[in-house]
Amino acid sequence: MSHTEAPQGTRRDFIYYATAGAGAVVTGAAVWPLVNQMNPTADVQALASIRVDVSGVAPGTQLTVLWQGKPVFIRARTEDEIAAARDVDVSTLPDPDANNANLGEAPATDENRSLAPFEGSELPAGTWLVQMGVCTHLGCVPLGESGDFGGWFCPCHGSQYDTAGRIRRGPAPRNLPVPVAAFVDAATIQLG
Ligand code: FES
Repeated sequence: MSHTEAPQGTRRDFIYYATAGAGAVVTGAAVWPLVNQMNPTADVQALASIRVDVSGVAPGTQLTVLWQGKPVFIRARTEDEIAAARDVDVSTLPDPDANNANLGEAPATDENRSLAPFEGSELPAGTWLVQMGVCTHLGCVPLGESGDFGGWFCPCHGSQYDTAGRIRRGPAPRNLPVPVAAFVDAATIQLG
């Protein structure tokens, strides 16, 4: 099975969500082959930042958006997922770095990987996890709510990521990268 086949139509979390912002992000299969070739069209590459409406993302669900030609997973985690991610001895992790572009080098704690909620949010701290949906082994797109650690599973060569997107087992060397991201209002996350 190639990595282009696995996510499409098989996982309910694989929703392509287009947002307003700097321009149209084309939804669905039309763009997907381009992502896998890592050869996005010029207008996709041009979107240095996009804004994503996350008002419809309830805990336990996620959006996948395309940004700069790559999938980004935006997940609202359940309290159980947050607790599982925080109940991990960071010194045992294969990749000790948070791999978070907002922080620079930092320990791979769950706190250092999750996105701070918008001020006044009633959701628990740590609800939001935003990360590139690109396996750090050879670039396949991992499947959500999968694998031995309840996070993401990459079917290409069996990398297992936990509920914080940290590599726990398999050939991938790094935690899933956390891109530059921030809430700009209660319902909107800006990437880039
Ligand atoms: S590309 Fe994900 S395990 Fe190889």
